[in-house]
Amino acid sequence: MARKKLAMIGAGAIGGTLAHLSLLKGLGDVVLYDVVDGMPQGKALDLQESGPIEGFDYKVTGTNDMADISGADVCIVTAGLARKPGMSRDDLLSTNVKIMKEIAEGIKKNAPGAFVIVITNPLDAMVTTMKKVTGFAKNMVVGQAGVLDSARYRTFVSMELDVSVASISAIVLGGHGDDMVPVRSLCHVGGVPIEKLIPNDRLEAIEERTRKGGGEIVNLLKTGSAFYSPASAAIRMAEAYLHDKKEVLPCAALLEGEYGVDGFYVGVPVQIGAGGVEKVVEVDLTDSEKAMLDESVSHVRELVDAAEKFLSA
Ligand code: LAC
Repeated sequence: MARKKLAMIGAGAIGGTLAHLSLLKGLGDVVLYDVVDGMPQGKALDLQESGPIEGFDYKVTGTNDMADISGADVCIVTAGLARKPGMSRDDLLSTNVKIMKEIAEGIKKNAPGAFVIVITNPLDAMVTTMKKVTGFAKNMVVGQAGVLDSARYRTFVSMELDVSVASISAIVLGGHGDDMVPVRSLCHVGGVPIEKLIPNDRLEAIEERTRKGGGEIVNLLKTGSAFYSPASAAIRMAEAYLHDKKEVLPCAALLEGEYGVDGFYVGVPVQIGAGGVEKVVEVDLTDSEKAMLDESVSHVRELVDAAEKFLSA
């Protein structure tokens, strides 16, 4: 059987980590694309030389030519600027929308059958741009945010209770901005509702830290944003697709009526398998969680409208 091919579009900190994880997990051959001359080639050669040590034979290619992603099964897109301290994800909009348009055209031309996972911020607007420009079916274009945001929520609950992350289930819905919605009513530790284990004021602090989790890392790093955990999150989604796992993961998916939203990408639980985003799972929310989700969706709408203007400018 032919090897699978994964194209990492953007060979920065997340792109390099995506390539590394793919190779270690044996997902397939990897192409690292970037506009910077030499950088993707250097990272690819370095990764290839780790093969004899790690015991993988997959090919890693670095390139500045989108034609080299030809026939990719999965494209994971991180191209674009990342935040610096003091910037919101939305501050990246005008620059990254132009980059996303070019990348989307390249994917459409060279990898028309790919499952496309977008990570570039502002996520909700970037995944929308990818969908519009490629014209791909909605099940084949998805945004990475909820897997990461939920992992942050679980991390903070684990730190609070000193309990294994494996025993904590949590989801974060909505846009990938500071008004994302950590769903308290669906957070459980070994099946016990979180509200029975952590007092309200501490839970509020954990949820606020989750919402601001990306910014916390940006402020510490000062020169860029998180990369290990965003890469892990996207690889988990790619694995669900390539291995037809039918795993339910929170991702930005195009809604057409679900959650009362029509025509916008919003973070919701979806089932990912060989068919890409095979279905949107509708969970019960409390009234206040619903109100928070509506608020988050209204922000997504504003962002998408603004992106639309830059796209047509
Ligand atoms: C973050 C970026 C990747 O949340 O959006 O860290």
